[in-house]
Amino acid sequence: MKILVTGGAGYIGSTVVSELVKAGDDVVVIDNLSQGHRAAVHRDAIFIEGDLADRSLLDSIMAEHQPEGIMHFASNTLVGESVEKPFLYLGDNVRNGLNLLEGAIDHGVRRFILSSTANLFDDPERIPIAADERIVPGSPYGESKYLLERLLFWMDALYGLRYAALRYFNACGAASPDLGEDHDPETHLIPLVLQVALGQRNSLTIFGDNYDTSDGTCIRDYIHVLDLAQAHILALRALDEGSRVYNLGNGNGFSVKEVVEMARRVTGHPIPAVMGSRRPGDPATLIADSVAIRQELGWLPQFPDLRDIIESAWLWHSQHPHGYEE
Ligand code: UFG
Repeated sequence: MKILVTGGAGYIGSTVVSELVKAGDDVVVIDNLSQGHRAAVHRDAIFIEGDLADRSLLDSIMAEHQPEGIMHFASNTLVGESVEKPFLYLGDNVRNGLNLLEGAIDHGVRRFILSSTANLFDDPERIPIAADERIVPGSPYGESKYLLERLLFWMDALYGLRYAALRYFNACGAASPDLGEDHDPETHLIPLVLQVALGQRNSLTIFGDNYDTSDGTCIRDYIHVLDLAQAHILALRALDEGSRVYNLGNGNGFSVKEVVEMARRVTGHPIPAVMGSRRPGDPATLIADSVAIRQELGWLPQFPDLRDIIESAWLWHSQHPHGYEE
């Protein structure tokens, strides 16, 4: 298939682009490089530097390339930032998504995959969290993704645009030693822990140990970025049978302390950690129930083991200590 990937130079987008190319699909990437990296884009993908705010650019890309499907990653993605700067999220994320949807409808695109989030579940009634859990967005970020899910619902109902909304839990790991996570600023646990191991930071601050969990620190479901990529490809191929919404995780939770301990074992570095206060907006436990995508599409994560996840991230970070800058 010919697929237009927005945000295809970012961490998850670039991994999916690489897997699509390997699977034989033709890929066109649009990315404004505000967070992504040109060097992360697979050399066999067509790259266009541009912004989704530019509706005429989107029109010309769709007219020229006539994509059969769109995967939409381009987004502001930080929960904390979204509380400080809500209009980047409730404004830009939603407006840009709407531009893309209008372009998709105008140009007859029939398939759409949305990169969504577990930040829709701020107050889950059941853990592990299934896709039919009640929606309580935890931040303007989560709300912006939920608004896009709702827009997709109506595009399907009114225009027959088939979509999958994929709600990631904690994306992590590296697709290869040369394709990994490079955010500036970095806020995610595993890369921060590995930056300590690389000597780039003195210590990690653990955001609170008074949660209602086994060791008091927050529990998250860490899902390898290659497993996320496979879920996108499976969902894309299944869209003609109907739209769908899936939660993506391993169904296993690890505490912040467990992640730090595993990183110590993988890197051989003592990784000093100091206890800090809670980070606003962090729920105690987020674990996914991904039974639906496993049963319906046969999705089976290949890297559920925390050691494998951290080893793959460590290979990338230790070989590219300054990310794609080199
Ligand atoms: N943490 C620390 N210290 C740090 C950084 C993180 O203790 O320096 C803790 C956090 O408090 C949290 C855990 O490590 O308990 C994971 O934090 P991340 O920032 O790595 O990830 P989040 O769970 O906050 O957020 C991620 C994505 C979001 C997405 C969310 C969905 O970054 O985009 O998962 O669950 F919305």
